[in-house]
Amino acid sequence: MHHSVDVILALHRLCFVVAKQLMRIKGGVEERYVQPVTPSDGEMVQEERLKLLRLPTSCLMNAWLQRTVVQDITRMHGMLEEGEKRMPERKAQMEAIYTHMWASHEGGPFAPLDESLHPRPHSMLYEVASACGVNASSLVLDVGSGRGNHSCALAQRFGCAVVGLDVAQFHIEQGRARAVQEGVSDRVSFVQGDIAALPFEDERFDFLWSRDMLMHVPALPATLAECARVLKPAGAMLVYTTVATGRMEPKEAAWLSASFDLVPESMGESVVEAAFQAAGLQLRSKEPLGSELMEWVEEHEGRASRELMRLARMLRKPEYYQELLGTRRYEVALANYHWALYILLGKLSSTLYVLRKNVSL
Ligand SMILES: C[S@@+](CC[C@H](N)C(=O)[O-])C[C@H]1O[C@@H](n2cnc3c(N)ncnc32)[C@H](O)[C@@H]1O
Repeated sequence: MHHSVDVILALHRLCFVVAKQLMRIKGGVEERYVQPVTPSDGEMVQEERLKLLRLPTSCLMNAWLQRTVVQDITRMHGMLEEGEKRMPERKAQMEAIYTHMWASHEGGPFAPLDESLHPRPHSMLYEVASACGVNASSLVLDVGSGRGNHSCALAQRFGCAVVGLDVAQFHIEQGRARAVQEGVSDRVSFVQGDIAALPFEDERFDFLWSRDMLMHVPALPATLAECARVLKPAGAMLVYTTVATGRMEPKEAAWLSASFDLVPESMGESVVEAAFQAAGLQLRSKEPLGSELMEWVEEHEGRASRELMRLARMLRKPEYYQELLGTRRYEVALANYHWALYILLGKLSSTLYVLRKNVSL
C-alpha cells in the first residue's frame, strides 16, 4: 500500500512540474499567482471542483488539484497507518463477535433457548386472589374493568359478586353484554366512573382487583388512597401493573405514552411502590413477573410473533395501512403491537403486588 501511495505522489509531482512548464510556454500566468489564488478546501465547493476537473489544461486547476490531492493522500496515508495499527484489535473483535453470532443460530449451548421456561398463564392471578381469601361471599371491585372479562371470570370462578368500574362508557356496555352472555349478570354489575373518585361508600369491598390500568392514572398516591378508602379493614388489593425499565429509551417511552395516554410517572416502579405506602396500603407481597405472562401468550397463541409481522407490514407500507385502517386506528395499533414486544424485550416489565389495608391482619 505504501508503494502505491508513493507512485501516486510521484505522478502528482510530475503533473505540477508539467503545469509550471506549460505556464511558462504560454506566458499567460506568472508563477507567483499560482499558489496565492488557489482556493482552500473549505472555499472550494463541489461544483467548482468539478468545473476545474473539466478543464485539464488550466494551470490554476493543476496547482490546486495537486495541492488538494496531496493533502487528501497525506490524510489517507495517516488514516491507513492508524487503521493498520488497529487491525489486530479489529480482527480479534470481529472474530469474537462472529464466532458467537454464527453459533447462536445453531444448537449446542444455545439449544436450551428454544425450550420453554414454562411460564404461567394470566389465570395465575386468580390463584393469587384465592390466596387472598376471595370466596362466594366476597364483594369484589374490578377497577378499570375494560371489557369485563376478568369481572366475569372472577364471578364464575369464586361465585362472588363483582362490580366492574371503568371510565369508558363503551366498556361498561361491553361488560354488561358479556355478563349476560356468560350467565353471571345476577352478580356482576358495571359502573362508569373514575378510580380517582370512586362512587362507593367507605369500606364496602372485600377485595380490589386492578389489572393493567394504573399506568393510565395520574396522582397515584391520592388515587390509591381512594382505593384504600373503599376497602374493608381486612380486605386486600391485587395490583398487576406494568412499569418501564432502563432498557426503554426516553423517545420510545414518550411515543408510547402519547399513543396510549399513559402517565410516565405512574410507570416507574419506585413511584408506584412509594404511592402504595403513601396511600396506607401495606405491601404483603411483590412478584416481578417480567415477560412471564406474555411468554405464555406467545407460546400458546403466537400473539407476539403475529403482531411483529403486522408491525413489519405496517411500517413497510404505512400509507396503504393508514388508508385501510384510518390514521388514528393505525397509530393505536402500532403502539399496541409494540406493547407485547416491549415486554418480551424487557423494556416493559409486569409486576404483581398484593396489598393489605391493615398489615396486622
Ligand atoms: C389496559 S385496559 C385493562 C382492562 C382490564 N383491567 C384488563 O385487564 O383486561 C385499561 C383500562 O383502564 C381503564 N381506565 C383508564 N383510566 C381509568 C380511570 N381513571 N378510571 C377507571 N378506569 C380507567 C380504561 O378505560 C381501560 O379499560
